Amino acid sequence: MKLRYKILNGVAAVLVLSVTALVLTVSHDSACPPVTRAAAGEGSMRAVMHRCYGVPGGIRVERIAKPVPSEGRVLVRIRASSVNPVEWYGVSGQPKLVRLSGGIGKPSFARTGVDMSGVVEAVGPGVTLFKPGDEVFGSASGALAEYAVAREQGAIAIKPQNMTFEEAAAIPIAAITALQGLRDQGQIDKGSKVLINGASGGVGTYAVQIAKAFGAEVTGVCSTRNVEMVRSLGADHVVDYTKEDFTAGEERYDIILDNVGNHGFADLADVVNPGGIVVIVGGSKKGPLLGPIKRIAWAKVAGLFVEPQLKFFIAQLNKADLEFLAGLVREGKLRSVIDRRYPLDETAAALEYLGAGHARGKVVVTVE
Ligand SMILES: NC(=O)c1ccc[n+]([C@@H]2O[C@H](COP(=O)([O-])OP(=O)(O)OC[C@H]3O[C@@H](n4cnc5c(N)ncnc54)[C@H](OP(=O)(O)O)[C@@H]3O)[C@@H](O)[C@H]2O)c1
Repeated sequence: MKLRYKILNGVAAVLVLSVTALVLTVSHDSACPPVTRAAAGEGSMRAVMHRCYGVPGGIRVERIAKPVPSEGRVLVRIRASSVNPVEWYGVSGQPKLVRLSGGIGKPSFARTGVDMSGVVEAVGPGVTLFKPGDEVFGSASGALAEYAVAREQGAIAIKPQNMTFEEAAAIPIAAITALQGLRDQGQIDKGSKVLINGASGGVGTYAVQIAKAFGAEVTGVCSTRNVEMVRSLGADHVVDYTKEDFTAGEERYDIILDNVGNHGFADLADVVNPGGIVVIVGGSKKGPLLGPIKRIAWAKVAGLFVEPQLKFFIAQLNKADLEFLAGLVREGKLRSVIDRRYPLDETAAALEYLGAGHARGKVVVTVE
């Protein structure tokens, strides 16, 4: 065998071995450690913990120490939280590549939850924007618990009075994603023709309303059982994906907000006006190693060959956008659609339901 073939074979063997080692490493599951219990009382709280991977098996409610707000932090007594695909990925450890950042074998951070609403119980030194008793909503690390600490300058705002705690807790991740996808990535304008693929889910139900608030002409794509709900949110047109494929239709759009990832980029490009934009919000959970990461990677390649811009982004939670959304709620232009409510003890069931991919609006966890 010539030297160059020997070298090529060697490189190929090293590559195969490296990929195999990576797959085996990220596929390893450590057993769940025994439940730890802090003494019940003033200084403790109940919190959802995931000390091993798996939905529903990796979730337990434990009693742990109640946090104390440090400088610039606010302690919130949580009234409600809501679950998002990001928590499902983190807790299930699927696709397995997420474990490179989330922890090999077991999660490196056992708390979960981001979206929350509740009442400020205490504030740390230097906090001026909030005081005990304020009703707030926003994001806090480990929000699936009785208490969580939020950064005063972070994504936290006064809860609109025309919303319940549950409705407010549904907003942060999903509605900020919809807003940033349409406004910052899609550059939505009055009169834009916008198609929202996956209009009936967490992101989609807010996206329909936000696009309408910007004065766009909105088409929502959903299944038969959700057609009336999507129309009631203000969609001008609704495509029932069980009967019609929008990529085969005559209509053309300036912006496609794709929450589902079930169409090829070439097919999406066919129904985008010149200068239009496809905003990739999410992709299929299927695929044990890569899941939606495949679609994001593929968008980079496809972007070289199709005309519309393909934009993928990760939503950035921030106060200004949360307050913008609170303003829309106060004006009656934005509301939350809540599919199911689960008590904190049944968070595992909430995540299992969300993970099946057919929630109608948001799935909320209530905290007694
Ligand atoms: N990039 C970011 O920063 C970011 C932030 C948040 C979320 N995401 C991603 O965005 C995606 C959507 O999130 P989400 O919270 O809206 O999820 P979700 O609430 O779980 O979405 C469920 C909805 O998707 C609909 N759906 C399923 N298959 C469909 C299809 N073929 N065509 C149209 N609709 C379909 C379902 O309707 P039916 O039951 O009728 O099928 C259901 O109402 C996820 O992939 C998530 O990971 C990304």
